[in-house]
Amino acid sequence: QVAILDFGSQYSHLIARRVREMNVYCELYSCLVTRSILEEHKITGIILSGGPSSVYEEGSPHVEKGVWEMIKEKGIPVLGICYGMQELAFVFGGCVAPGQEREYGKTTMKTTGSCKIFEGLDSEEIMWMSHGDKLHEVPEGFTKCGSTDNAEFVAIQNLEKKMWGLQFHPEVTHSPKGSIVLKNFVIGVCSSPTDWKMKDYAEEFIESVRKQVGDGHVIGAVSGGVDSTVAAVLMNRAIGDRFHAVLVDNGCLRLNESTKVLKRLREDCGINLRCVNASELFLGKLAGVTEPEKKRKIIGGTFIDIFQEEANKIIESSGACDFLLQGTLYPDVIESISYKGPSATIKTHHNVGGLPASMKLKLIEPLRELFKDEVRELGVALGIDEPSVWRHPFPGPGLAIRVLGEVTPDRVKILQEADDILIQELWKFNVYRDIAQAFAVLLPVKSVGVMGDGRTYENVCSIRCVTTTDFMTAEFYRMPYELMESISNRIINEVRGINRVCYDISSKPPATVEWE
Ligand code: XMP
Repeated sequence: QVAILDFGSQYSHLIARRVREMNVYCELYSCLVTRSILEEHKITGIILSGGPSSVYEEGSPHVEKGVWEMIKEKGIPVLGICYGMQELAFVFGGCVAPGQEREYGKTTMKTTGSCKIFEGLDSEEIMWMSHGDKLHEVPEGFTKCGSTDNAEFVAIQNLEKKMWGLQFHPEVTHSPKGSIVLKNFVIGVCSSPTDWKMKDYAEEFIESVRKQVGDGHVIGAVSGGVDSTVAAVLMNRAIGDRFHAVLVDNGCLRLNESTKVLKRLREDCGINLRCVNASELFLGKLAGVTEPEKKRKIIGGTFIDIFQEEANKIIESSGACDFLLQGTLYPDVIESISYKGPSATIKTHHNVGGLPASMKLKLIEPLRELFKDEVRELGVALGIDEPSVWRHPFPGPGLAIRVLGEVTPDRVKILQEADDILIQELWKFNVYRDIAQAFAVLLPVKSVGVMGDGRTYENVCSIRCVTTTDFMTAEFYRMPYELMESISNRIINEVRGINRVCYDISSKPPATVEWE
């Protein structure tokens, strides 16, 4: 395996993902990992990630002495990225100092000399930088193999020690040939085996969770979305009926959703699933509420109460319930950190870390290291059906934040019908998978129309379809006119209560994906 030593960069998981894309097994370790832990594995190469610290700062993190000794004894190749390169300089006697100015963004790197991990690159390549400190002197035994206008040493190598340092980030897509550099290291230099598959990830998880849980019980909420489905299938394969899945119908799910999820998870996947129909409770509490954040808080709070009750029931019937399964993905982890940070709360995402500490459940998060498309790949490897694997994300508060203004049972029903037609049409036109998220929104305005010979005065619905890779930014989907026409005709003809359909053409930012 390739060991990635994490110095706290926001891209460390992206490095792991790039390595997995080469079908090479890798693991992410703390930068302070000890030799004895690493020695439990056959390490083919080590990557030192970037990080927010400065190497000479007091208290800044450094690789353990024992690990350096192991690297030397076994001749393990090392690649240092950003802070990782500065760590090489710190250890092998180079000189790092704060740059005059921070370098951030795309930069042209000129390659110099012959560099083993730059094979296949041109003499000038765009690479993505994000750093304050820079290298002023190369460490002994290293030579320069790349520079930019702003920095003399952005890439260094020591062929004898099999060590490379890069100031830029090869793992981000903004470095177009970055993955070639990583591949040259991971496969070219380290000769790492390329037989790892997503299915192996499942097997490793199943084995480790069996050890962790012992004969205990695990509870987990499922929504029918791909993340909770994949997590639930994994857990079911690991511990069978000692995994208790709970589906809470808050009355704001898609049309017939709870019936469909019950069939899929209970009948098709054999998951021990209980469904709590709490529609009346949720809709009762939402009556008269129009403020979006208030809706989220009500739904989040009520959900927790119900979930807690279900956990108590499981404890009563099984004697214990110590673990909680969550389908948190890596981007959720990043996003929820930034949501908690000094930046303004834009929206409270209630399903990330939303359960109270008083529940004292130990978290199990099998998907925490994965990105959405990797979860889908894992879903396919687990044999989950295609429509489930490709489902668009659906927010925890559901249709409550898509019925703008007050949420009433009638308005939810109107929206469910419109939304269902939209999704049917997208599959029919074979574009569902080209879109990251598609939904209908019921606006709190009425418009005049004419139907037959009569005047109508009904609701307006807006269709929102976006393309995006990470949901941090999004563009509206360029929808073919015939498809627009078909969606609009069907909604207006088939859904009582809607007489006008609009298409949302805003980007994120400045708009968000959801309307509330
Ligand atoms: P926004 O509207 O923030 O949406 O641009 C980005 C993504 O997040 C989803 N979203 C939520 N998901 N609970 C969730 O589980 C929420 O409260 C929530 N709000 C937005 C949204 O559907 C989109 O995929």
